[in-house]
Amino acid sequence: MKEEGVQDFLKGLRAAVSQLSLYPLEHPNCQASFKRGRAAAENLADGSEVVVALKGYAFFLNGTLLAYTSLMFANLYQDLSGREIESITLVGPTDAKDYVALASFVAGLVTDFEPGGSIRLNESHLTHGEDDSAFSDLRFSYTGMVGTLRNLDHRVAREGTFEMSPVMEAVEDLIEQAMSSSGASLLLSTVKSHDEYTFYHSVNTCLMAVATGHYFGLTRKDLIPIGAGALLHDIGKVAVSQQILNYPGRLDREQWKEITLHPQEGAQAILAAGGPGHEIASTIALEHHARFDGLGYPRLSASPQPHLFSRLVAVSDVYDAITTRRAYRRAETPHRALQLLLQGAGGAFDPDIVRSFISLMGIFPPGSILRLLSGELVVISHHTGDLEELQAVVVRNNSGEDIEPEPRIVNIDEVGSQVLAEAAGIEPAALLEEAGVASQLIAATSAAPEEGAMERSGVDEQELRDQATRSLSSIYERD
Ligand SMILES: [Fe+2]
Repeated sequence: MKEEGVQDFLKGLRAAVSQLSLYPLEHPNCQASFKRGRAAAENLADGSEVVVALKGYAFFLNGTLLAYTSLMFANLYQDLSGREIESITLVGPTDAKDYVALASFVAGLVTDFEPGGSIRLNESHLTHGEDDSAFSDLRFSYTGMVGTLRNLDHRVAREGTFEMSPVMEAVEDLIEQAMSSSGASLLLSTVKSHDEYTFYHSVNTCLMAVATGHYFGLTRKDLIPIGAGALLHDIGKVAVSQQILNYPGRLDREQWKEITLHPQEGAQAILAAGGPGHEIASTIALEHHARFDGLGYPRLSASPQPHLFSRLVAVSDVYDAITTRRAYRRAETPHRALQLLLQGAGGAFDPDIVRSFISLMGIFPPGSILRLLSGELVVISHHTGDLEELQAVVVRNNSGEDIEPEPRIVNIDEVGSQVLAEAAGIEPAALLEEAGVASQLIAATSAAPEEGAMERSGVDEQELRDQATRSLSSIYERD
């Protein structure tokens, strides 16, 4: 798969366009970025012809969807489509002049692009051609959310503050879509980025927390602050040095102290940005590392237990963190992550929420890769509520050969073992989207709320609000 080659090409183009917005064409910085970009283009074409096409907020290489690349380069996608570019064809060795012309055209410095050279625009429309507009909207919201967080993070680092309204707009947009198809939105949350862990992790946590909250019986009114709190739960990490965040070994006392301040920093940042009306989002940031049994950090003085919504976000936060590879440890399988949540039920986590989370995700959550006893390899696509029957897509036959993905219902007795995505060389989200599963999930109805969960947890609206106010009073006491 040449997906990395496409990423290098797009990265090069993005850098060249950005240099052109700062310096004149002849400047050494521009020249250096052209040189690197041209090399990436030539590498991708590899002496023959390749087509990078754009459609429905996604990039395609020779007709194959590049789901992950589409998420990574959402901003560049906007720039390219703003210039009405639908495809870029690279033919043979890339001419330096053509590359400069492309970068200048995308940067808006020239209005025409000469046809017929080693780089051609809009000569090919090699995509799947199927109408996946509903999933495109969801992907657009997802990438929009990652972009919003990225900007916000830079802003907090630079100015120490941010604005809450774009976040709330993005959250409401995402919730709208996640509620109408939680299956498809959970599928997106299997996208893992190691380079921009915090952003993707936050969006994934938000999607899963909203889906769990919805399943738990909460309404949109509650899901919005939950989504905002989940999205911003780690915003306080801006105050922690990258060196400590990615430190591979055991943290010393000082380092640990710095890390444990991020919930409080985050809660204060949300209050400063949002003011009244954002107490619940702020409480979630404050309490996301506080445990169900009263341990964890910070120690809560106002209540023995974290707020119900904080408990809800804590489960999604930990699940996504465990299933993502980090600098200091490998990713665990989704199934293993569920086992760890179960072990922690009643200790670190609220057992009712863990139960709801597992009923929603299924024993093998979407994106799980399983080797069947027959030797075939399948990717789990979604969960219908039947624990015995797994909705899957077969991707490798029993001789280990890649096959055209084929939907199939797998009985739990057929499962041999679980495999890590990295070990199998599979990108589950991309594969399921390619197999058309995403569009089917959009068409399918969303998981219905679990009956009686709210009553069991004894939720009282007023009490939830009061508890948030009490929790936040503790951050002022600590100052
Ligand atoms: Fe955290």
